[in-house]
Amino acid sequence: MAKSIKEFNVNQKRILVRCDFDLPLDENGNILDDFRIKESLPTIKYLLENNAKVILMAHEGRPKGQVIESMRLTAVKKSLEGYLGFNIKKTDDCIGKEVKEEVSKMKEGEVLLLENLRFHKEETDNDPEFAKKLASLADAYVNNAFANSHRSHASMVAITNYLPSFTGLTLEKEIEMLDKISKDFKKPLVAIVGGAKIETKAKFIEEMSKIADAVIISGLIEKEMIEKEMKFENQHKVVAPKHHIGDLDIDQEAIDMFREKILTAKTIIWNGPFGKFEDHVHKKGTLEIAKAIVESGAFAVVGGDETVEFLLREGLLSSFSHVSTGGGAMLAYLAGEKLPGIVALSN
Ligand code: 3PG
Repeated sequence: MAKSIKEFNVNQKRILVRCDFDLPLDENGNILDDFRIKESLPTIKYLLENNAKVILMAHEGRPKGQVIESMRLTAVKKSLEGYLGFNIKKTDDCIGKEVKEEVSKMKEGEVLLLENLRFHKEETDNDPEFAKKLASLADAYVNNAFANSHRSHASMVAITNYLPSFTGLTLEKEIEMLDKISKDFKKPLVAIVGGAKIETKAKFIEEMSKIADAVIISGLIEKEMIEKEMKFENQHKVVAPKHHIGDLDIDQEAIDMFREKILTAKTIIWNGPFGKFEDHVHKKGTLEIAKAIVESGAFAVVGGDETVEFLLREGLLSSFSHVSTGGGAMLAYLAGEKLPGIVALSN
């Protein structure tokens, strides 16, 4: 069993916290949705209140081992400072001399943010030597990055071999809420899967079609299913728009059909938009789905960057019972997969 950071005496200790600060940014590097930062705060504040030295590490995007200026964690630093109400330090790298020096100068109650882990290819290679270098900075490790727990990366998995390792409060909350929805849910259960990339969603649709009363999918997902000649075990439960009106939005007939199913549900799981919602004129289908979910009064869980960003923009996010920080991680967890970042904490 993984242990909570609350079971460890963090007083005066250097605690290395893996966060998921992989945020949607605009072309100028401004944060479009800082939900993952807000969700990381209870863990950071808990550590600060208990007199720890807090070292944060995270990734942004997929720089593939290269330093990409627009993927630096500069905006994350600013956002964290705003929420914490004091200045924090950020290093230009996540390992090396500068990092060691900054860590050695840290006092209790201070926060240090390390630069994007994925500037080193060793991170995504789950490289033990890289993990050792990260581990040498601290007395204990915390996984607070549920959203990245489906990745077997050095800061998620290999690092747990070199430090006492614990769950962070965000990770614990995710596990509690997602277990509630997958193991202890009220029927009817409706799963809603928008967006595209069937390869990342097929297992989830397959598993949901076994336990849910209906699985609503987008036209894009259905198109990919047809192209790949895929069928699910309980295909009769999978519903898609009847007409393909391009990839931009869904038509009124589909909205009415989906609304009917959603309004009867007691439990709803949603990931992925149903149109190009970024363009105001094409947001209708996604918005109508969101409104129907709220109207249903069901226990509703939502996840995925784009969906969360949309709901935040429409002012509907707080109407959901649980907003997962995970996209792919949420789908994998609910499909019953063992996430390597979580498994590693128990080993
Ligand atoms: C996410 O945003 O879902 C996680 O941070 C994982 O990112 P990745 O898909 O680039 O590995």
